[in-house]
Amino acid sequence: MKPLIIALALVLAAPLPASAHPRPPRDLRQLAQQTGVRIGSAVDLAALRAESDYRRVLNREFNHVTAENAMKWESVEPQRGVFTWDDADTLVESARRNRQQVRGHTLVWHNQLPAWLTAGVEDGSIDATELRGILRDHITTQVRRYKGKIRAWDVVNEVVEEDGTMRQSIWLKHLGPGYIADAFRWAHRADPHARLFINDYNLEWNAPKIETTLSLVKELQAQRVPIHGVGFQGHLGIQYDYPGDWANVMRRFADLGLEVAITELDVRMELPVTPEKLATQATYYSRAMTDCLSVRACRELTVWGFTDRHSWVPGWFEGQGAACLLDENLAPKPAYQALLAVKNAR
Ligand code: XIL
Repeated sequence: MKPLIIALALVLAAPLPASAHPRPPRDLRQLAQQTGVRIGSAVDLAALRAESDYRRVLNREFNHVTAENAMKWESVEPQRGVFTWDDADTLVESARRNRQQVRGHTLVWHNQLPAWLTAGVEDGSIDATELRGILRDHITTQVRRYKGKIRAWDVVNEVVEEDGTMRQSIWLKHLGPGYIADAFRWAHRADPHARLFINDYNLEWNAPKIETTLSLVKELQAQRVPIHGVGFQGHLGIQYDYPGDWANVMRRFADLGLEVAITELDVRMELPVTPEKLATQATYYSRAMTDCLSVRACRELTVWGFTDRHSWVPGWFEGQGAACLLDENLAPKPAYQALLAVKNAR
């Protein structure tokens, strides 16, 4: 073949760059396909079981899922040695059938621990040596159970305080700072292919938290600890400014070689809902996607629930709500349309 023909053949064979894609995406799955950013949602297992419309929208729109509560320690081992995997298994199986990847959430946290564990530590019946063994077994058992079925694990969640000190959890108090490296190593041993993340809130903007988390990652890397990603929870509210430096913060972690994910995005507002507030909310969602797209290492954007029918916000932030992409009736809000309209800069 003549060089010109070869060149022509190469040009014709190359896929269209996504940014030249002629059509706007029809839904979030198409947005994920066109951008290469996985689009996920937290899943409420009771709703998944009971509500067919919830199921239909989840599986139509999302190619990634996270259990909102079903993989937390209190959910999987409510009594010592008594394991309740039903909900977690159901989600992992549903994801397989619907071609969704899974984020495991979460292995080490200070919240939603089973009472037998916190009480045992408090009354001294569980000492430090035993506690370390319990944590190792917990991580090993859970990660092994879903080996090959979970793309990424939130290994440690919220381990840094707002002021940049390490959180004084039962883990730090009783096991010392080495528990974090241990947790990553145990998880890696149980599933060498899973991507292992550190996850936190307010990491989008809070300088002390950002600096401590960056140092922590560097320290772990210096010790050859298998850490692969950083998760920004992204619990935002329109009464606060959008975290305008977020893309730069993502880039600082990406520069350490980490994958970046937005893991729990939602944008709450003071009720009542108004059209103006929904319009502002839409800009927060689209800016988060734009920020993710501007950093090559950002490969997942997961929302913390996709419908206002099932959202943690009203229960946790008094007088606030309407934080999701779809309303209680699963009708798309302006934020949903804004996400589809984001210019694909990749
Ligand atoms: C929340 C759930 O959404 C609620 O249903 C539950 O009652 C409490 O936890 N950061 C996290 C999530 O990492 O696990 C939390 O999820 C929200 C804040």
